[in-house]
Amino acid sequence: MQQSLCRISGNPLIPLIDFGDQPLGNGFLNSTDFEREYFYNMSVGYCQESYMFQLIDQPSPQQMFHANYAFYSSTSKSMEKHFKAFSDSLKDSKYLSTVDPFVIELGCNDGIMLKNFVSSGIRHLGIEPSLNVAKAANSLGVKTISEFFTEECANRIVNEHGQADAFLAANVMCHIPDINDVVRGIKILLKPTGVVMFEDPYLGDVIEKNSYDQIYDEHVYLFSALSIQNLFKDYGLELINVIPQKTHGGSLRYVLAHKGAYTVDSSVDEIISKELRQGLDKAETFEMFKKRVQKSKSDLINLLTTLKGQGKRIVGYAATSKSTTILNYCGIGPDLIEYISDTTPIKHGTFSPGMHIPVRPYEFFKSNPPDYAVLFAWNHAEEIMAKEQEFIASGGKWITHVPEVKVH
Ligand code: SAH
Ligand code: TMP
Repeated sequence: MQQSLCRISGNPLIPLIDFGDQPLGNGFLNSTDFEREYFYNMSVGYCQESYMFQLIDQPSPQQMFHANYAFYSSTSKSMEKHFKAFSDSLKDSKYLSTVDPFVIELGCNDGIMLKNFVSSGIRHLGIEPSLNVAKAANSLGVKTISEFFTEECANRIVNEHGQADAFLAANVMCHIPDINDVVRGIKILLKPTGVVMFEDPYLGDVIEKNSYDQIYDEHVYLFSALSIQNLFKDYGLELINVIPQKTHGGSLRYVLAHKGAYTVDSSVDEIISKELRQGLDKAETFEMFKKRVQKSKSDLINLLTTLKGQGKRIVGYAATSKSTTILNYCGIGPDLIEYISDTTPIKHGTFSPGMHIPVRPYEFFKSNPPDYAVLFAWNHAEEIMAKEQEFIASGGKWITHVPEVKVH
């Protein structure tokens, strides 16, 4: 059913971009399942009162997060390092009590962040609805319960474990449609001196870099400091710090606490002023974004069609959920992209959602290098470029689409 009201304010959304029918971003599938593949209309809208950029319609959480969830966080070495540094910054901060601190992480996936607390003997709890990745976390000694976080779940945790010093989340808050319920849960869970620290892909970067592939089923919201400050203030929680991150092509880490518990860092006012200058409070800004998205689509189709016409072999590098938006919006299938190379075993032998491009193991890419590789994991470019010297040396070229379609 089409949802056209803002999930925060309840006001009608201003419709912005229609990306057409889209499958699940992480819905890699077998050929026997092509016939019953699920599609929904992916459009985005904006609310001028809550400042929230959001999907109008979204598949149910149970359709996206389940016992066969295809995304394992630890496939990226740079993300391992990132979460080690994130954990260290909390351990070194004033926020953890000296006596028996307790850390909670929402969407802990395979334990990529919390394992750093296991090794320090810090009491922790992960909440992870996708059972396969939750099991992977538990097998590392990360105490994880497999369920969707709700206010009711928060009450149970407080009764069993007490309140938390820190409530962490990375790339998950923006996944949860009933975010009001989550914030109510956080309010209950947080000690009077506790902090919330979470990070998600940043709307400001998406607009600046034209990285429209950050829009897919799981990302029901693209947050800004404006929208987060507004969302949490209604629950007596205050934005006290913001820290830009390079991850996922540009993210923002938000630090929040009970109102008045800590002084507000100057970074908050600075980023809010920057967002107002960038026009993140105005629907017109997103109208301009729409035009750039349409140009990116035609540029990519033209480039791939031209190269294919010249007899070049083109493959995709990394079967990311972001690539699902690009491929389906641009209508790019196996006629243009031969296969997509990926390092995640669960994706091997499957086909990309919607456009059904075969997904092959990375070893296949090494033994069958193409003329051109479309870098779908552009957010991991540094890590990938470092390990693909051989591809370049043998004459291979990269195609990127962020911030514009380009051959390297
Ligand atoms: N934090 C990890 C994983 C991000 S993927 C990282 O940054 O790499 C998002 C994760 O959130 C998935 O593992 C998904 O199962 C989980 N998730 C989705 N909805 C959730 C909810 N309501 N409560 C807790 N976790 C959720
Ligand atoms: P992400 O962009 O959502 O983090 O997804 C990363 C995907 O890219 C995941 O399926 C693993 C894949 N990948 C590779 O195939 N090779 C790589 O070098 C990296 C970093 C990721």
